[in-house]
Amino acid sequence: MKVLLVVTHPREVSLTHAVKNRFVEALQQNNHEVDILDLDHDGFNPLYSVEDERDWTNPDKVYAPEIRKEMDRIVAADALVFVFPLWWYSVPSLLKGYLDKVWNMGLLKESMSKKVLWICLAGGDEEHLIKYGYKPMITHYLNVAIAGYAGVKESQVEFLYDTLSPSEEYIAGLLDQAYALGQSYN
Ligand SMILES: Cc1cc2nc3c(=O)[nH]c(=O)nc-3n(C[C@H](O)[C@H](O)[C@H](O)COP(=O)(O)O)c2cc1C
Repeated sequence: MKVLLVVTHPREVSLTHAVKNRFVEALQQNNHEVDILDLDHDGFNPLYSVEDERDWTNPDKVYAPEIRKEMDRIVAADALVFVFPLWWYSVPSLLKGYLDKVWNMGLLKESMSKKVLWICLAGGDEEHLIKYGYKPMITHYLNVAIAGYAGVKESQVEFLYDTLSPSEEYIAGLLDQAYALGQSYN
């Protein structure tokens, strides 16, 4: 399977990148082809300009080459995976900008990769995210409001909780969780 993996975190030595690396390692061991887009380090510009606006009256509108390139990477992939930290119970702005500009209000509906996995790193623990309704809110937002609207057939959210834990053993367990997710991905 060809997987387009989109990661966002400004710090290369972050847990987010460590999770991405473990997940990719498992994918590659299972002979999946992985195309990585690192929104921060690849310099993705999240600012939405007039040129980026979807023209509902013109399905043939030509978008900026750097955006068209990202659209083509999606079309070429069988599956998409996002790895990101939970910020304000949402996706970081850079990832939101990517969705705004590249997914562009469901522009790719007909050619959208068939499935999406969202790997979300949360500072809070699971009990907290359930108690305040954040877990169903985020899950619904990603699976239905975003992926569903964009025509994705299969969307799944996996949370890694309590990511700021000082326990090295616990953090190693999160990396094992990332590896296991990659191992079972098909
Ligand atoms: C701007 C910002 C907003 C955050 N908002 C949340 C939040 O809404 N809920 C939560 O559980 N954790 C929140 N966190 C904690 C991050 O999810 C946590 O730092 C991250 O999962 C740890 O991974 P990292 O080391 O790769 O950054 C926030 C962190 C930052 C920097």
